[in-house]
Amino acid sequence: MCGIIGYCGHRPAVPVILEGLRRLEYRGYDSAGVAFLQHGELHVVRAQGKLANLEKRLEGQNVFQATSGIGHTRWATHGLPIEKNAHPHTDGAKRLAVIHNGIIENYQEIKNELMAEGCAFASDTDTEVLAHLLARAIDKGLPTDQAMSETLGRVEGAYALAVVSLDTPGVIHAARKSSPLVLGVGVGENFLASDIPAFLPYTRDVVFLEDGEMVRIDAASWRVMDVATLAPIEKEIKHITWDVSAAQKGGFKHFMLKEIFEQPKVIADCLAGRVDVAAGRAVLPELAGLPTPERLFIVACGTSFHAGLWGMYLLEQWAGVPTRVEVASEFRYREPVLQPGDVVLAISQSGETADTLAGMRLARQRGAKVIGLCNVVGSSVARESDVVISTQAGPEISVASTKAMCSQLTVLTLLALCLGEATGKISRQDRIDCLTSLEKLPSVLEAELPRMRERAMDLAKTYSEVSSFLYLGRGPYYPLALEGALKLKEISYIHAEGYAAGEMKHGPIALIDPRFPTFALAPMDELFPKVKSNLEEVQARGGKIIALTHPGADMRVDHIWETPKAWGPLSTFLMLPALQMFAYEMADYLGKDVDQPRNLAKSVTVE
Ligand code: G6P
Repeated sequence: MCGIIGYCGHRPAVPVILEGLRRLEYRGYDSAGVAFLQHGELHVVRAQGKLANLEKRLEGQNVFQATSGIGHTRWATHGLPIEKNAHPHTDGAKRLAVIHNGIIENYQEIKNELMAEGCAFASDTDTEVLAHLLARAIDKGLPTDQAMSETLGRVEGAYALAVVSLDTPGVIHAARKSSPLVLGVGVGENFLASDIPAFLPYTRDVVFLEDGEMVRIDAASWRVMDVATLAPIEKEIKHITWDVSAAQKGGFKHFMLKEIFEQPKVIADCLAGRVDVAAGRAVLPELAGLPTPERLFIVACGTSFHAGLWGMYLLEQWAGVPTRVEVASEFRYREPVLQPGDVVLAISQSGETADTLAGMRLARQRGAKVIGLCNVVGSSVARESDVVISTQAGPEISVASTKAMCSQLTVLTLLALCLGEATGKISRQDRIDCLTSLEKLPSVLEAELPRMRERAMDLAKTYSEVSSFLYLGRGPYYPLALEGALKLKEISYIHAEGYAAGEMKHGPIALIDPRFPTFALAPMDELFPKVKSNLEEVQARGGKIIALTHPGADMRVDHIWETPKAWGPLSTFLMLPALQMFAYEMADYLGKDVDQPRNLAKSVTVE
């Protein structure tokens, strides 16, 4: 949700900033802008729309003298996505420029006050108040760090912000509260960004900033301080082990396709060192010392919520742990009854989703332990959880999540096995069978993916003119139906609804006709006969059906799509990619912007 980058060093800053913004564009792409100091003047260049528009605007301009500057890619919260609302924002005298990710909640009150004092506003954003407040504090004679401290003391809400100013050439001041900000430490250059890939080609040494911290960087040094007192804070430099190739397309047309194809490796990486098949044991050392939860609350958003819902089926069936799954935006605002012995499992790819973070903070306040299941190392969820289990899927760039969900499902399977062994509910033989099947999944899926893609392409062509789709599933395949529908609507903009197959008669059946197709998840498990009857009800109303099933399934529908069978609910791992691939091929066939779907952002750091 908005990407910010700052650079101070020895290279021309603008190209470094644009390259960084390219890697952050998944966070927002309504508009983009840069600010830099050159020949003693502050330059701000902005453009509506994607980064390419900004690049076009900068073409031919002499911007190569500046060796420090800031850049922003926006996902609009306050104010339309038009140029005047693009960041950076400046004060009236254009002495400083600010970029911001987050929401200043009391901006209207501050804006009214500033306007009453004669201050003119150039945008409709909440961010602009920061520029004016800072300039006023500097005008009073305060040095920039004190001006930052005073300004941030006045604002409520969430921010990661960075400032360049004519008063401090070659320096960037930045601060964070509830929005991610990392410092990249280079040799003769330093970086600030919302996310590590932005500066990964230049350095892998990073410092994760915490809420309430402010940082001052120049080319040669960096200093972290407490934003309120300006007291220095000691920080540890962490070395990132993954490299830049993990964040590139590697010959695929889109990141999403690349990430779908990475899933065999994701499962293998997730299992590495965590499986002892002979003993029938899933090994999650992270859980050591944590008693088996009396009740488990899973809190997440979007695709991560669907992963959690899927996990519930396994956790209750194999471990007998009462589990409840809730979207974080609901959980955080109701009065969840939590008692000692309860555990909250927060699932988040990015580890920065505002609602998920708020949910887990609430849980901790109420005395529950929090397990964080997240992908981004050093993220807020990872840092604020009592126990962190890393999903190790590598950087996920496409806005629509694919491989991250696969990794979450893998870890949830291991978690259910671990807890199941502790409670004794699942037999040793079942655990051995499950782990044996799990270990085979990467090679089975690897072989299957190219075939899956061809089938998805054919079906996408067949159904490309449809305006609505129904997805049905039962048991653990119900969350998959929700996810299939979510993927389709996210990237192809075709309306899609996921439903529990048995619930279909209570409403959606009214919509069924030859132009409203159904995508059914029909694995050959104990619920297969039930799903089959539901599909007959669809057929009786003239509805067309694609059924994702197993070889040998006895059913007559318009399109049978067979995927290999795995042990128990593990067939999920071979059906999920088919759903993702179908959505992908549909969106690509329709010429949609697969990796950057309209209105969405990868990491939703605001409410
Ligand atoms: C956004 C993304 C989704 C993601 C959701 C939760 O909506 O577009 O792909 O599933 O946020 O994100 P998280 O990082 O918490 O898993």
